[in-house]
Amino acid sequence: MTTTLLPLTYDQEILKLIDQRLLPTEEVYLTVRTIEDTYRAIQDMIVRGAPLIGFTGIWGMALFVKHNPKATFEQFERAAAYLKSARPTAVNLAFEIDRCVEMAKLETHMSSLYPMLVAHAKSEMNNLYEKNLSMAKFAEIELQKIYGDRPLNLMTICNTGVLACGVLGTALGTIIHLNNKKKVKMVYASETRPYLQGSRLTSFELLKEGIDHKIVVEGAASYLMKNKLVDAIFAGADRIVENGDTANKVGTSSLSIIAKHYGIPFYIVAPISSFDLQLSTGDQIEIELRDPNEILQYKGVSIAHAEANALNPSFDVTDHSCITGIICENGVIVPTSPKAVRAIVEKI
Ligand code: MRU
Repeated sequence: MTTTLLPLTYDQEILKLIDQRLLPTEEVYLTVRTIEDTYRAIQDMIVRGAPLIGFTGIWGMALFVKHNPKATFEQFERAAAYLKSARPTAVNLAFEIDRCVEMAKLETHMSSLYPMLVAHAKSEMNNLYEKNLSMAKFAEIELQKIYGDRPLNLMTICNTGVLACGVLGTALGTIIHLNNKKKVKMVYASETRPYLQGSRLTSFELLKEGIDHKIVVEGAASYLMKNKLVDAIFAGADRIVENGDTANKVGTSSLSIIAKHYGIPFYIVAPISSFDLQLSTGDQIEIELRDPNEILQYKGVSIAHAEANALNPSFDVTDHSCITGIICENGVIVPTSPKAVRAIVEKI
């Protein structure tokens, strides 16, 4: 299996997104023509993963000005607030859309903003591979300090690869880089209930890369770590705040607590756009609550009693005290503290 996945393409002013809800069984591309289509694609998780929803947000704002060349700045700002509300936890969406608003402030005519936003979106995506590779190289150095060059057993949660970033990936990009260096023995991919980003998407990407891996249920984490089957854990981030507390896919926090109990290094790998230094602790992060039917049904078929209800928090907050290090394109934050976070994030 070798064909490269392209989760987002833009050609002749038409944005196409691979429908991630259907992977890995079907590879279907959906056309996105308006800001409303973009909102729905993000909210319904046709497109997902913090960095990729951020880039999709830029295209969404470009589509807004394309269809509203005479819009006022206030209308542009309202459209930006609307698109940002599609998913609240991943700060990348707000980060990228806020930058579009800053660009709009400098333009007198909306029509001149369209080519600027398109060029901006393309250049952001083009720069990403280098950024992700530099995170992976920092991670490699961290592991080398602990384990030398021996091939390792690694664990990850959710999907943080090409399908979440557009290129390489963050935590999964690190695993792919380490595998290219012959430093990976086995990867345990947490299935990631209820949307199954691990079993549907991460496993698919690992298969395409030819990396040995096993899908495990979330509840197997303690078994794996107690039995010394995991040397290190890499997870992504949807929002990292000033003290290092990190929101990521629900289940990440319990992985980190178990890892701390068994003395296993636990790393967050994420770009600068995932940091929100306006918040001082993780308690201030809004956690997205999704439709209970994502838990109660599978592909539209009930898997619980018709009268059963469910609570579906899509993310949780990993306490900074359970994180060995946060790795971004500027370097490694270890141990996490407000001073250390600011020093790396604000590094020029
Ligand atoms: O709900 P999702 O699939 O968008 O959640 C994705 C995650 O939690 C990822 O770990 C995170 O966005 C980082 S992606 C590089």
